[in-house]
Amino acid sequence: MNLASTDRNIAGAPVARLDEIRTGSVTLLENSGIRSAILKQARTDAQWIGPSGLQGDSHAESFHGGAEKAILQYDCDFYKIWAVEFPDSAEYFKPGGFGENFVAAGMNETTMCVGDVVRVGGTLLQVSEPRQPCFKLNHRFRQPNMSRRSQATGRTGWMYRVLEPGFVRIGDMIEVVERPLPEWPLARVQHYLYQAVDDLDAAQMLSELPLLSSSCRALFARRVENATTEDWESRLSNGPLVSGPVTWFEAEIAEIRQETESVSTFRIVRADGQPLPAFDAGAHIDLKIANSITRSYSLYRLPKHDGYHIAVHRSPTSRGGSSYLHDQATVQEKLTITEPKNFFPLASGASRHLMIAGGIGITPFLAMIEQLEADGRDWELHYCAGSPQSAAFHATLTSRFPSRVHMHFTEADRSKRLDVSALLREVPEGTHVYCCGPATLMDAVRAASSNWPDGHVHFESFGGKAAPGTADCAPFTAVIASTGTEIEVGPESTLLEALRASGFQIASSCEAGTCGTCRVNYVAGEVDHRDMVLSSREKKTCLISCVSRATSRITLAL
Ligand code: FES
Repeated sequence: MNLASTDRNIAGAPVARLDEIRTGSVTLLENSGIRSAILKQARTDAQWIGPSGLQGDSHAESFHGGAEKAILQYDCDFYKIWAVEFPDSAEYFKPGGFGENFVAAGMNETTMCVGDVVRVGGTLLQVSEPRQPCFKLNHRFRQPNMSRRSQATGRTGWMYRVLEPGFVRIGDMIEVVERPLPEWPLARVQHYLYQAVDDLDAAQMLSELPLLSSSCRALFARRVENATTEDWESRLSNGPLVSGPVTWFEAEIAEIRQETESVSTFRIVRADGQPLPAFDAGAHIDLKIANSITRSYSLYRLPKHDGYHIAVHRSPTSRGGSSYLHDQATVQEKLTITEPKNFFPLASGASRHLMIAGGIGITPFLAMIEQLEADGRDWELHYCAGSPQSAAFHATLTSRFPSRVHMHFTEADRSKRLDVSALLREVPEGTHVYCCGPATLMDAVRAASSNWPDGHVHFESFGGKAAPGTADCAPFTAVIASTGTEIEVGPESTLLEALRASGFQIASSCEAGTCGTCRVNYVAGEVDHRDMVLSSREKKTCLISCVSRATSRITLAL
């Protein structure tokens, strides 16, 4: 393709201003165990688009992304319509809601055609297919039929392949500079995809349409060959919650610094010198220490070229993880780490972010503050610690953000303790609260926010409360509703472990009650809920099997 950057929009084609550029890494959708990169962050500086899309953008599934689905654009005028149609979810219908990379108004599926070549800044893109919505929209917008509605209305967005890599900036105009197939608006393709599904002549034609994506052409070819329409159910309905494979990297410690008497920071790089995967604020990695112990640590700095940064508190009750890192780990020591996972992302719909940290629970908030500041969003931090000497990073935080950071030191004066109930009693509408720290602090936040709207309170924890084997873990019986089978859950075991030992494939991720991946529905019995993720409404029918228990007997909807 050899179009000069001075080429102008062709007559009759739409033109739009690029209002936002958004990228994101894979996280868990709020209050679900679904891995997705739909929660993207708006980027303010120039962004590079390479052959597979925007630098730093990720996709959780192989059916998203790739060379022919490198960039997603969505008409942001549609959000007003969605908000009227689904008033309960109005707060989620905001630009970026559909996980689009390009936020712009004035172009849509009826005005854009397959094969349209658009110039945006220094890059040249080509429309490859209408987006095929999937079940993650149901979770994203908290509407069970959102993916079906998106498909039925054609308000899906569309994908581009990259013809010429280059930089894009907010304010660039998106101009259609070539239209080879004016007879194929995206809406017409959607008509044959989802309505006139029996029209095999059209399917034949579309299977050979050269500028349509190869996967879309193959779909139409299969229809012609089999004379049947493919099954949409697994794409549109809530797909199976299966944990994705974990990627481990060989890494090494590049730098160790002592932050306080009991907190040290570690900079970790990839052993082969390659860049590490990007992540969003709130993410953590798992670290395999001395080839045997696995521990999770928040990444306290946003992605930089110098590696991942973690801070480790030397726990007085350490079972080997923190004491090994403090006492024995050395620079250049080899470790194995996972790619970042994020069960604690910033809520995209929040108008204000209220963070409550206890002790080393400050670490995820450091990256979050960095992100919130970069985005110019409203935030406040309450940081609880014994003393100034033991509070890692507090001096930097208070000197940089004196009006936003509030310290609560209790060692010398218990009356300085944070009054969580008072803090949460009067907060502006649209506030989301985040808490990471000891179980007592998280319990206080959970109790004080019990009447908050679903999804407005977020917790991060790397240790289950009342671990199996403690006095808090009495045995109980789980009954499988479909077969009547009884499974005994002993005091040393979690329900998740017992179900797996009986052959049930239950996905899990954090195994600490914070991500929601291992949820199971129940139909009878009294549950001792110990998670940090379910709303009070959800707790009536659902439990988190990695931490929650039953008082005696429980019947599971399995
Ligand atoms: S695996 Fe994350 S809540 Fe159970």
